[in-house]
Amino acid sequence: MTSILICIIVELQIRAHEIQNRMYVCLCKGITDKHIRDAVDAGAGSFREVRRQLELASQCGKCGSLARDIYDSYLNSYDENLCYAAA
Ligand code: FES
Repeated sequence: MTSILICIIVELQIRAHEIQNRMYVCLCKGITDKHIRDAVDAGAGSFREVRRQLELASQCGKCGSLARDIYDSYLNSYDENLCYAAA
């Protein structure tokens, strides 16, 4: 029961953080950090796949590094959530 409650609280905190902290990553294509997270949630299995789906970094390319950081960070938060859920 406690682990379920912790998992729900963590999920709510993540959602609140997402709503408050959206930012544009790719100005050329109008892609936000949420678009990247949504692509991962929808099943994009690699950063390359996220880039392909969203056409991220396909014009000037200046957003590629930041987009990669956001992708990696989101995957790490996924791992942490799984740890909480398994506890
Ligand atoms: S800012 Fe993303 S391609 Fe230019």
